[in-house]
Amino acid sequence: MENRLVINGGKRLSGKVVVDGAKNSAVALIPAAILADSEVTIEGLPDISDVHTLYDIVSELGGSVKYDSQTAIIDPSAIVDMPLPNGNVKKLRASYYLMGALLGKFKKAVVGLPGGCYLGPRPIDQHIKGFEALGATVTNEQGAIYLRAEKLRGARIYMDVVSVGATINIMLAAVLAEGKTVIENAAKEPEIIDVATLLSNMGANIKGAGTDTIRIIGVPNLHGCHHTIIPDRIEAGTYMIAAAAMGDGVEIQNVIPDHLEGITAKLAEMGVPLEISEDSIFVKKSTAFKKVDVKTYVYPGFPTDLQQPFTTLLTQAEGDSIVTDTIYPSRFKHVAELMRMGGQFKQNERTAVIYGKTPLSGARVIATDLRAGAALVIAGLLAEGTTEILGVEHIERGYGNIIQKLSALGADIYKEIAESNLA
Ligand code: EPU
Repeated sequence: MENRLVINGGKRLSGKVVVDGAKNSAVALIPAAILADSEVTIEGLPDISDVHTLYDIVSELGGSVKYDSQTAIIDPSAIVDMPLPNGNVKKLRASYYLMGALLGKFKKAVVGLPGGCYLGPRPIDQHIKGFEALGATVTNEQGAIYLRAEKLRGARIYMDVVSVGATINIMLAAVLAEGKTVIENAAKEPEIIDVATLLSNMGANIKGAGTDTIRIIGVPNLHGCHHTIIPDRIEAGTYMIAAAAMGDGVEIQNVIPDHLEGITAKLAEMGVPLEISEDSIFVKKSTAFKKVDVKTYVYPGFPTDLQQPFTTLLTQAEGDSIVTDTIYPSRFKHVAELMRMGGQFKQNERTAVIYGKTPLSGARVIATDLRAGAALVIAGLLAEGTTEILGVEHIERGYGNIIQKLSALGADIYKEIAESNLA
């Protein structure tokens, strides 16, 4: 038996839920801290397995990490340029940020090709293009990327694909390079601004993060600082969708409403009652959900990371909705699982048609990736009967304390730990 999440569905949700710091910032901020020569304190970090894996990697490299559930004090002063061809780096996608950070600091790095959610092919050619433009030689040997440079020199880099990871990785490599780097066609996600803010607090010279042109002037060294992470817009959006599905009134706290416009616009279009305040959003179940079509885009468009949870909600809409993922065309593994619960879909290429409205019923399903897991949790909350979700480890990579948070709202959800995993 494996670990599983068990949900007895049909319970209405009410109360408050506090959103954690952004996973996709956290996984870049921790590698960024390596670039400093003294202690970096990051507050508001999410308590998730991806973050713990990065603490382990920083420790393996010789750094010291002191942390509680929200704050980490990272002292990178004793970090060495140890090769990381295997091991922890394979556990998460974001280990690719160690390439930029270690290359920036030591002018060399060996990092195993990253793991993380399988959403179809996820190339890193734009990261490599950026490192090469800065003067690095990059080779792929037996599943690990080897990077080496005599010296990193600023360059003008045009990104052929708008990529969050490549934009951040090039920033990490460029802040200590000699001279000026210009990243054109950069991604504009809030997480990029967050990483640029940390780097600026460390003494880097970066302008334009959050626009499609980022300008960096290299500095000789970076120092420690204090930084508070931004709230997780994807975790917030996931709870908004759960509240839209089952809420008698849920206040989602610690949000930046501007970051949530893609999801608030679509929920409003479905007829979901929303009240938006300065740093919280109140969401209730609608009496009748209207069908909507959704296409994922780069920020500020509808985020691909909420496509899967939103698809679950669309099973409850009157009529047929169409969801298209333009970022990850294969990000539809949740569809087959939702079909086991009674959802009706037609899926091809990058599109799913959701035939609404269909009641969902509990079943044993598999979370194949993080956001597919979130989609199934929401389906379990909606469904009649008991849902068992396998693949819990995917969910734990990105949602801190999800059982406690949903239970506090009134859900009947718990984790069954496999006997073989009991200590
Ligand atoms: N792409 C390339 N070449 C590259 C890089 C990307 O072709 O060198 C393509 C990808 O295949 C994809 C698109 O460009 O089609 C966008 O990919 P991007 O690089 O922006 O994605 P990422 O940096 O690998 C981050 C998040 C993902 C999120 C995407 C899109 C992290 C650690 N991951 O991935 O988050 O879906 O941006 O917003 O920040 C998640 O949280 O569940 C998750 C998968």
